[in-house]
Order: sequence, then C-alpha cells, then structure tokens
Amino acid sequence: MKGVVLTGGHGTRLRPLTHTGPKQLIPIANKPNVLYCIEDLRDAGITEIGIILGDNMPEKVREFLGDGTSFGVRFTYIDQGPPKGIAHAVGCARTFVGNDAFCVYLGDNLLKGGIRPMVEAFSRGDDAAGILLCPVPHPERFGVAEVDAQGNVVGLVEKPKAPKSDLALVGIYLLRPSIFPFIEALKPSWRNELEITEAIDHLRGAGRAVRAFRVTGWWKDTGRPEDILEANRLVLEELEPRNEGEVEPGAKVSGRVRIGKGTVVRKGSVIRGPAVIGEDCTIGPDASIGPYTAVGDHSQIIGADIEDSIVVGDSVIEAPGKIVGSLIGRHASILSADGRGRPGRVLIVGENSTAYL
Ligand code: TTP
Repeated sequence: MKGVVLTGGHGTRLRPLTHTGPKQLIPIANKPNVLYCIEDLRDAGITEIGIILGDNMPEKVREFLGDGTSFGVRFTYIDQGPPKGIAHAVGCARTFVGNDAFCVYLGDNLLKGGIRPMVEAFSRGDDAAGILLCPVPHPERFGVAEVDAQGNVVGLVEKPKAPKSDLALVGIYLLRPSIFPFIEALKPSWRNELEITEAIDHLRGAGRAVRAFRVTGWWKDTGRPEDILEANRLVLEELEPRNEGEVEPGAKVSGRVRIGKGTVVRKGSVIRGPAVIGEDCTIGPDASIGPYTAVGDHSQIIGADIEDSIVVGDSVIEAPGKIVGSLIGRHASILSADGRGRPGRVLIVGENSTAYL
C-alpha cells in the first residue's frame, strides 16, 4: 500500500500563522503536524509516500521533509497548486498510485491509536474503500457517514444540515485506483471544491463496498487555533520526560517535562509539566512555564509566565502578566512596554492578528 499526504490548502482559519507557511508544519508539542501523519503511515508499514503540495509556500514542506530517508520512508512530491478540494488533491496522485491501494492522510490531522489495524484489515479484504469515523458533538460541520450493523457504509454526506448520525469522517481514507473515475466525474460543490466524501458516496452508490472503521484513541483536526492548542495538550499528556539541557540551582522542574540540548533553565524559574522546551533556549531567570506548554528552539523566556500555549520558536518573551491559551508564531517578540517613554501598551500587530488584552 502507498501513502498520500495532503499539505495543500490555504489554512485561512489559522492566519496569521499560515502567512508564513502551510498549517501542516505548525508544531504540536514541538513537532510539525505532518510528521505525526508520516510516522503513523510508516508505523503501519507504508513507506512509499506521495506528498501533495499546495501553493502556500510548498518549498517549506520540501525543505523540512527532504527525500524521506531521515524518517525511514521515501517521498514523491506532487504539485496540486491552488486548493480545489480534497478529491482534486487525491486525483493529482493518480500516476504516483499506479495500480496500488493507498491511504490518504490529511496533513493537519492527528490520530492517537494509529492506523495499522485498519490498514491490515483493508489489505486483507477486497472492499473498494475504507473510511475512519469518530463520533463528534457537531456532525453538521463534517462529512457524515451512516453505517449498518455489519460496518458497511450506507450513506455519506458532506456537512449535512440534518445529519443522520454523529459519525464524522476523519481525514484518513483507504482507497484503490477504482476511486479515480468517480473523482473525474465530480462537479464542484457549493463551496466550489471537489469533495472526496461525494466521490466515495458515488463509489458506494455504484455497488462497491465501503467499510467503516472507528477511531480507538482520539482524533483531532487542527484547522483552528483552539484545535491546535487542544492537540498540543493531548500530545503533551503522553510526553516522555527527558532533560538534555541544564537546570541551574534555584530553578524547579516538575512533572512530565522535556528539555532540549543547549537549553538553560535559570534560577528562580519553574517549569510545570506537561511541557516541552526545545533546543538552545534560555528560560529565566524567574520564568514560569506550563502546564501544557510547548516552547520551540532558540526562544528566550525571561521573567514571563506562560501556560497552555505554543511558542513556535525563535521568540523573545519578556513581559509581566500571565500568558494563557496563546499561539505565538516564529520570530515573535512579546516585550514589556516599560521604559519606552510612553504610558500604555505598545503593539505592533500584523495583518489578521488578534490580541486579547
Ligand atoms: P481544509 O482544512 O478543509 O482547508 P484549508 O486548508 O484550505 O483551511 P481553511 O478552511 O482554514 O482555509 O483542508 C483539509 C486538509 O486538506 C488540510 O490538510 C489541507 C488539505 N487540502 C489540500 O491539500 N488541498 C485542497 O485542495 C484542500 C481543500 C485541502
């Protein structure tokens, strides 16, 4: 079986973070989202992986992933260009897929529990497609499946107004080349996209078996800032603690905490797990980090208090007051306004940014 990982789309809901790169590269617990997808495929024995590139700085994806050797897989890059829908992205992989079955993985999805059992069951059988489902509180926001008692999918609708079940389609699909004629026959939907849900439903309508699988752990689609923070919390909950940096006397580290090489935690600082600090960071003096916080490489957190947040990296945070539930992009600085000669807050806030004061 081959893998097809989608890294296109515009990620408008995540601006301004997606002004500087695709959302699939946003780090969750200091690891880009797309890497979790690739590791999941690899752990299911899938090492031939096609990477679908969009038009939002795709060179950053290539630069980060390389040829795949360092992750134990092999990548083939496939250009999609502007986002015309998930089915369009899958259609771009036709030559790469050849005659093989394949697993499509949306690069902004995060799954605990892995895909191995589903991949093995699909490989053994002769179903035309396999979809992964998860019960959700608002099914009308997703593709929704109706499933019979034997696990056969009997209906599939994208964002239905009156959902027939609470089972949402997770962004992982098992397909065979038999899907391609159905993709080619699609017309753009009301949101002007070619919908994979519709292609799979047409496949089903033509009498081919579509099998339902259920998420066994948890699943998160990181399309919105609050989803990214939740994914960060979920991954940090299971972090393996490790200290490769230096904790000075007078600093305190407790709980599940990972500290990278070259990082120094200075006196008066407290790190409460779960938390991850990358490499070559300076924490403190007198900083407080965590719980549920990820700080990326080359950051300086001085005298600041950060909880339940992601600092992507290369940042300086040196401001009084607590920072919570925040996403702080690369090279961002949060500094104290004191001493700047003017009373009040000093803000240099880029396009599409939000500051809660
Ligand atoms: P979405 O989150 O539905 O779309 P988006 O990335 O454009 O985000 P937004 O709605 O905030 O603007 O996409 C789901 C996944 O599929 C995501 O990983 C991006 C990927 N994708 C493509 O690769 N090509 C496409 O044409 C589309 C629509 C999505």
